[in-house]
Amino acid sequence: MARVSSDHEHFSSRWTFILAAVGGAVGLGNIWKFPYEAGQGGGGAFVLVYLGFVFLIGVPVMIGELAIGRRGQSSPPIAVANLAFEEGRSVFWSILGWTGVLGAFLVLSFYSVIAGWTLDYIFKTVIGVTAQVTAETSGDVFGSLLSSWERMAAWHFLFIAMTVFIIARGVTSGIEQAVTYLMPALFVLLIILVAYALVAGEARQAMLFLFQPDFSKLTPNVVIQALGQAFFSLSLGLGAVMIYGSYLPKSVSIPRSALIIGAADTVVALLAGLAIFPLVFAYNLDVGSGPGLIFETLPIAFAQMPGGSIFGFLFFTLLTVAAITSSISMMEPMVSYLQERHYVKRVKAAIGVGIAAFVFGLGTVFSFNIWADVKLFDRTFFDTLDFVTNNLLMPLGGLLVALFVGWAMRFASVREELSSVSDGFFARIYGLLSVVCPIALVLVFLNVAGLLSFG
Ligand code: PHE
Repeated sequence: MARVSSDHEHFSSRWTFILAAVGGAVGLGNIWKFPYEAGQGGGGAFVLVYLGFVFLIGVPVMIGELAIGRRGQSSPPIAVANLAFEEGRSVFWSILGWTGVLGAFLVLSFYSVIAGWTLDYIFKTVIGVTAQVTAETSGDVFGSLLSSWERMAAWHFLFIAMTVFIIARGVTSGIEQAVTYLMPALFVLLIILVAYALVAGEARQAMLFLFQPDFSKLTPNVVIQALGQAFFSLSLGLGAVMIYGSYLPKSVSIPRSALIIGAADTVVALLAGLAIFPLVFAYNLDVGSGPGLIFETLPIAFAQMPGGSIFGFLFFTLLTVAAITSSISMMEPMVSYLQERHYVKRVKAAIGVGIAAFVFGLGTVFSFNIWADVKLFDRTFFDTLDFVTNNLLMPLGGLLVALFVGWAMRFASVREELSSVSDGFFARIYGLLSVVCPIALVLVFLNVAGLLSFG
């Protein structure tokens, strides 16, 4: 197979790559999902297991994915095919690129619906709806959004349109430009929100909740959740990391970058917890309220606290910014594939993928209203997508990355791609990637398939 890399773009520096990659990783996963999963999983124990997974499994898989992308110099399916060819392996390995492109598209379709909720909540804070919310009415306010498919579809459309707009402009003028403005804004917003929450809320209780592990709360399910969350938060196994790897200049150290991205992603998740839990405790709200934590529970605190409307506005703006720097990384694999493989113009490819994601995303929109009772194995369309991507495609992608880099590629090629680190450090990464990651991920699959009951 010929390499399709002649006009493949590259990030202009290590710094812009780090910004884009951290932007891809930091998203709804950190600010919406992590706090509610930590809340449901009992706090500190979940956090500790999560941290272990991020650094022992997540970062090595990220290193593998970046290495495949950079060495393959193309969109995921072609990058993997290029490498398989070079390494004398079957071209069937390109399935790894395909599950990525498809998975990233599926995640984009529902991610943008949830990002649409955050747009709706920005609007709600501006027009003053959230200022009047009480514990009794908050559920209805959120419920009325969920029951209106027209409203959800409109915000979903707007969010996809913003993503298309950035992606259509390309890697350097689109993605890079966007993250250079949005990521500093995200950090400033986050710091303001954490500072405010720590001063105005129950800081001590929040800290204890997040950092004092109570191991009795640790069930096998919580462990699996933590691994799934680590994969989701680091965007692993879906080609989103691989595609940014393909835009990575040769001089940049992949292991160091992956460590920085993993650390930054974790810090943001923990900071999001520190922006949310002090308020949850201060107003005696339910930490374990699940996916509605930030849309249903948190606004009750915003309505009561001084300056709550401004806090709410900044909070949902932060979420939207975080979501958009992630959604661009989900759209990019398919767009670059269409562009490089089928010679579709970037603008057309972005619009086409955007329309497809919008239409497919309507399934998620309808899951909360007109299709709420349409269920497959007891799951709505949205639950099915969430399950298929989070529990199947992402761990499968991770497993294939680990097997490809750890076993299919020649040792010398992997070492060459990761030449910036010492032999000792490399040996550790290689061991984690080739042995520990596959075992852990296979265990997840066995568990998901219900073949193994941990009790
Ligand atoms: N990591 C992103 C988040 O935390 C989600 C994501 C998943 C992005 C998969 C790209 C691919 O929100």
